[in-house]
Amino acid sequence: MNLKDKTFLITGILTDKSIAFSAAKIALEKGATIIATGFGDGLRITQRAVKRLDGEIEVLEMDIQNTEQVQDVAKFVKDNYGKIDGILHAIAFSPIEAMGGNFLNTKVEDATKSFEVSAFSLKTITNEFLSVLNEGSSIVAVDFDNSQAWPGYDWQGVAKSSLQSIVRYLAFYVGKNSIRVNAVASGPLATTAAKNIPGFSTMNSEWNDKAPLGWDTKNAEPVAKVINFLLSDYSEAITGEIIHVDGGAHAIGGSMLTD
Ligand SMILES: NC(=O)c1ccc[n+]([C@@H]2O[C@H](COP(=O)([O-])OP(=O)(O)OC[C@H]3O[C@@H](n4cnc5c(N)ncnc54)[C@H](O)[C@@H]3O)[C@@H](O)[C@H]2O)c1
Repeated sequence: MNLKDKTFLITGILTDKSIAFSAAKIALEKGATIIATGFGDGLRITQRAVKRLDGEIEVLEMDIQNTEQVQDVAKFVKDNYGKIDGILHAIAFSPIEAMGGNFLNTKVEDATKSFEVSAFSLKTITNEFLSVLNEGSSIVAVDFDNSQAWPGYDWQGVAKSSLQSIVRYLAFYVGKNSIRVNAVASGPLATTAAKNIPGFSTMNSEWNDKAPLGWDTKNAEPVAKVINFLLSDYSEAITGEIIHVDGGAHAIGGSMLTD
């Protein structure tokens, strides 16, 4: 896969454990140009992490809830890079009150915050960058499959189900601009966001046991490879799709086999 002549906006790099970091690393190895964004107090951490990638990479501040800032980044990109070829949306946040078993008592403001940052933001970034995207561009989001409930993941899970739906609506609405919108449904990975999910550590061995191919929560590379496939022209006829990169765990129910 060759990504020479491609320029991607990569959101969501916080540390070198971030899914977006692995995605950026592979994109760079394949010849792409990367523009990174970080936000708030995490911006300096993002700047530090990006230094571990190969090449001079611009890091811009972009809080996805601040539409003016998103517009400023789109303008900066247009003025300095012209049109670009894709965006990785790797952004999620839920207040602690919206996770960890507090589902029944969660206030609407906390559930709404999860939805706004983790799901609606895909619409925001798509809309604000539409005029900066070349025909054939690709937008990729990172999902955690919520076709079943994950007690403890709670309103972040509800936000992820919304994200899946938003992928399909956006695929419809920007298809006429020849822009694709897809998501990768990742298995659990030990990132900062994941560590903030109560009970996340119990998933490590459970997922590995269930997945036909096994699963390493410390290796984001398999997810990053599929993100790059979706950003590339190899996936030119795919849109509105959710691709599971989870060792196959989503396809398997409980086992009736005994040892
Ligand atoms: N780690 C997992 O197990 C897992 C599994 C499936 C999906 N995901 C998804 O992958 C994506 C990336 O998360 P990660 O696991 O790499 O963790 P991470 O903590 O490295 O990245 C999360 C990112 O979200 C950004 N963010 C939060 N609020 C923001 C805002 N208002 N504006 C802009 N950016 C904001 C943070 O700065 C951070 O860079 C998220 O959508 C997450 O839900 C993660």
